[in-house]
Amino acid sequence: MELDRIVDPILLFKNWLSEAEKNEIRDPNAMQLATVSKNGMPSVRTVLLKDIIDTSFVFYTNYESRKSNEINETAKGAICFYWKSLNRQVRLTGSVNKVSDQVSDKYYQSRSRGSRIGAWASKQSRELESREVLMEKVKLLESKYDEDIPRPTFWGGFALKPDEFEFWEDGDFRLHDRFVLKPTSLKNEWTAKRYYP
Ligand SMILES: Cc1cc2nc3c(=O)[nH]c(=O)nc-3n(C[C@H](O)[C@H](O)[C@H](O)COP(=O)(O)O)c2cc1C
Repeated sequence: MELDRIVDPILLFKNWLSEAEKNEIRDPNAMQLATVSKNGMPSVRTVLLKDIIDTSFVFYTNYESRKSNEINETAKGAICFYWKSLNRQVRLTGSVNKVSDQVSDKYYQSRSRGSRIGAWASKQSRELESREVLMEKVKLLESKYDEDIPRPTFWGGFALKPDEFEFWEDGDFRLHDRFVLKPTSLKNEWTAKRYYP
């Protein structure tokens, strides 16, 4: 990889993602999202990348979940993609903010009825007495709503705006190719540096 040819990490990311889409068994858009509490305790889980808006990575979740509470506390996050089929990794860190209500509404309305009901039914990350309680809630919501289901105010998107990208590609003898891109003060301009693997 010639670093002076990487003008845009988003473009490179999209190229790698589209190759992953052709090769991964499932969920090429799955990413590990790390957040951190105000006390400095990190936590990590898988979420799905649903969009890239400008340069920000968008995912959707319950706004009262553990990850959301931590984002509300620190507004920071980190993401890691690992595509086994390509043996490539991309890492990003950055600030995390809610997307607009319009963006969340549009995505919510594009989801299947079952997923829209599911968002209403789940008090994500809080204790559930039994599976039956959840299924009962789903049944009630199924009869409450016809086709028109409004987005719950406790559910929507976040966008992580990267302040650093790291691309990693497998190399022979563990001499992997690893390079880091950081934005300059000029819009859409990035510096690229190679790092020891
Ligand atoms: C492949 C996969 C995709 C997932 N996608 C999402 C997602 O897009 N949004 C989400 O809230 N949870 C998603 N989850 C569930 C999360 O990993 C996690 O269990 C949940 O969001 C609660 O996390 P929290 O308690 O840290 O907030 C996914 C899990 C897997 C395995």
